Amino acid sequence: MRKKIVAGNWKMNKTFQEGVDLAIELNKVVVEKGAKDVTVVVSPPFTHIAEVNKVVDNDRISVAGQNCATETSGAYTGEISAEMLWSSGANYVILGHSERRTYYGETNELLNTKVKKALEFNLIPIYCVGEVLEEREAGKHFDVIKEQIETVLFDLEIADFEKVVVAYEPVWAIGTGKTASSDQAQEVHKFIRTLLADKFGAAADNTSILYGGSCNPKNANELFSNADVDGGLIGGASLKAEDFIQIINAY
Ligand code: PGA
Repeated sequence: MRKKIVAGNWKMNKTFQEGVDLAIELNKVVVEKGAKDVTVVVSPPFTHIAEVNKVVDNDRISVAGQNCATETSGAYTGEISAEMLWSSGANYVILGHSERRTYYGETNELLNTKVKKALEFNLIPIYCVGEVLEEREAGKHFDVIKEQIETVLFDLEIADFEKVVVAYEPVWAIGTGKTASSDQAQEVHKFIRTLLADKFGAAADNTSILYGGSCNPKNANELFSNADVDGGLIGGASLKAEDFIQIINAY
């Protein structure tokens, strides 16, 4: 059985105290009214992770980093290692978000290294893929996603692959208020699952594939009702506890 996951990506938002307050508020609503069969993940900025982890009920909310280093440790000023995240209480790490690819030049080859490093230190990668608008308009989105999946995941050992969560985030839908239609989301999610099944066999049935990109309380139910959509990676709407809980309960 694959897991239903709703993960909030806070991006570079919230001061330390604001983040801790949001985590306390989220924890309250998730514990009081959150669907128990949904795995809830929050991804605060690095500086907030340890404290957020302390204020949430770890049986109900897991914590993720938004990135990690390619290296294990050493003279890499400004970098945060997978082991540091894990030792601060994170169980997940978002990798390959389109903002990392676009603004920080992260390539599929680099992300392959990061995914392996995360797995080495017991973090579950939430690996993001997705096409930009020009690629979709040119009908190239399947090729782009295939490359993002093959280059980054196909050389994993099966036992490692089984831990990975994939997020499909069409870049044109992130933070724009435009959402992929339910059919567009299902079409790509099915494509991703088929690619994974061709390589990893039945294990792909258990891979959670999340949708991200302007997912909100109004459209979550329709998106999540698709056979191959196993939850969401939520940006803007994860910053408001009332919106986030409605998405968690949208199944
Ligand atoms: P959004 O962001 O929900 O604000 O569109 C999603 C994401 O970037 O993960």
